[in-house]
Amino acid sequence: MKPKILMARAVFPEVIASLQQHFEVESNQDDRIFSAAELTQKLSDKDGVIATASERISAELLQACPRLKAVCNQAVGYNNIDVAAATKAGVMVTNTPDVLNETTADFGWALLMATARRVTESEHWLRAGHWKQWRYDSFLGADVHGATLGIIGMGRIGQAIARRSLGFDMQVLYHNRSRLAPELEARANNARYAGKEELLAAADHVILVLPYSKESHHTIGAAELALMKPGATLVNLARGGIVDDLALIAALRDKRIAAAGLDVFENEPALHPDFLELSNVVLTPHIASASEPTRRAMADCAAANLLAALLPTAERKWPPN
Ligand code: DGY
Repeated sequence: MKPKILMARAVFPEVIASLQQHFEVESNQDDRIFSAAELTQKLSDKDGVIATASERISAELLQACPRLKAVCNQAVGYNNIDVAAATKAGVMVTNTPDVLNETTADFGWALLMATARRVTESEHWLRAGHWKQWRYDSFLGADVHGATLGIIGMGRIGQAIARRSLGFDMQVLYHNRSRLAPELEARANNARYAGKEELLAAADHVILVLPYSKESHHTIGAAELALMKPGATLVNLARGGIVDDLALIAALRDKRIAAAGLDVFENEPALHPDFLELSNVVLTPHIASASEPTRRAMADCAAANLLAALLPTAERKWPPN
């Protein structure tokens, strides 16, 4: 008998077809988000699940699903999973690191450029028919080249962002749980380790790429925003809870910082409505890793992880022929 799995969200159809060669697959190609009770019920007879950041795998769910052996997240972040409870229950947890580093770093730069140079704000203004003449002071933004870039969270995505800054002649400061080895700092455009406060006070542009946890909750709140330069910009690519949205809204409204670029939000997809009223924020719907090849690579990585977790070694070939 094939192991039973749940593909919790819609995915490329070829991935489902390939998974069906190994597993009895319950798929969700309608892409409906399951309630906690529904997810528990669906997983109660499953051996494994491919989940995303939208599915909360809690201790209660794990307790109610004793057959479950593997939770394979189709994301690098795994703050949706109670890993301690999974470990205690003997459930393997996997994520999709590395395959999305470069694509996510590209998008960090897209948000940084759009935010500093007011790309979306000026485009909305133009589309609304306001452009009547060229002006010397239209949409003056901040320079990116030659500026100081502050990266909080210097994992592989942070380092990929830093490498790109070489072409913009930037100085890079980073803050991280631990310092990088000197050779990694050198590859990351000679990034210099700094305390969080020092980084926030010195950087012209700050990018957040740290994992979300209880400890990183509200890494950026009112006190941190107050340390930033008045003309500075902030980009969040990581997880919503890392920034205190209310504090950021207040700082953007009072122009205490110049602008923000946000791909993630507290309580997403329910966005705080005040963000929509602000012109100095670029808002995107959690798409930093959303290039076609990278989303395919993430799906393949999650599927390969599921095979590794549930099948004997000889049967683990992904993709199957
Ligand atoms: C990730 O991989 O963690 C992205 O944020 C998608 O959830």
